[in-house]
Amino acid sequence: MLPVAVLASGRGTNLQALLDRAGTYAVRCVISDREAAGALDRARAADIPAHFIDRKAFADRAAFDAAIQERLAAHGVEFVALAGFMRVLGSAFVQTWHGRMLNIHPSLLPKYRGLDTHARALAAGDRNHGASVHYVTETLDGGPVILQAVVPVHDGDDAPALARRVQAQEHRIYPFVLDLVAAGRVVLGADGVVLDGEPLAAPLRVNAETELSCLA
Ligand code: GRF
Repeated sequence: MLPVAVLASGRGTNLQALLDRAGTYAVRCVISDREAAGALDRARAADIPAHFIDRKAFADRAAFDAAIQERLAAHGVEFVALAGFMRVLGSAFVQTWHGRMLNIHPSLLPKYRGLDTHARALAAGDRNHGASVHYVTETLDGGPVILQAVVPVHDGDDAPALARRVQAQEHRIYPFVLDLVAAGRVVLGADGVVLDGEPLAAPLRVNAETELSCLA
């Protein structure tokens, strides 16, 4: 079983989805930069070590990252899943976890890196929006994408309504991808994502109706 850490700053609904699906992987600890993060409560409820690491307690980002690294080592973590972690990790940390760290981002990357993705998709008049699971590299929200869920934009949607539709798909695709990684079926190769030994020419794409098992 792949020992995983989840880093989260918010409510932790993606963490919950990862916990609910655990089997090929095991969540060994949850780390947050926000003491009040719902993600920490969810971890405690699941009897998983929950660590608040206060950025303000450290002189710089490198020291903060090192404190996270220390916890990961203490729990024997081999893979990191970012799930709404709102801090940018430094390059040394990102390099240490190269090919061993995923993120979920609420847009169809490379569209809308960064924040406020739902409002930006609405402002652009997009008919489709979605979420992407990708490897983390030093380019913010720019690492190789494994799987995307496409979600329709409905007339009259506001950002919260669209976010809810996207998040429902996030909760399906993130555990699914982590399962593929834990099974050794998805890896990061020199030229990008490799699935079952074959380079992925483009990210896998699904929608709400897609039976995910047919991809695997
Ligand atoms: C999700 O929308 C995810 O895409 C983004 O942050 C949000 C986290 O939500 N990276 P939650 O804390 O998992 O509910």
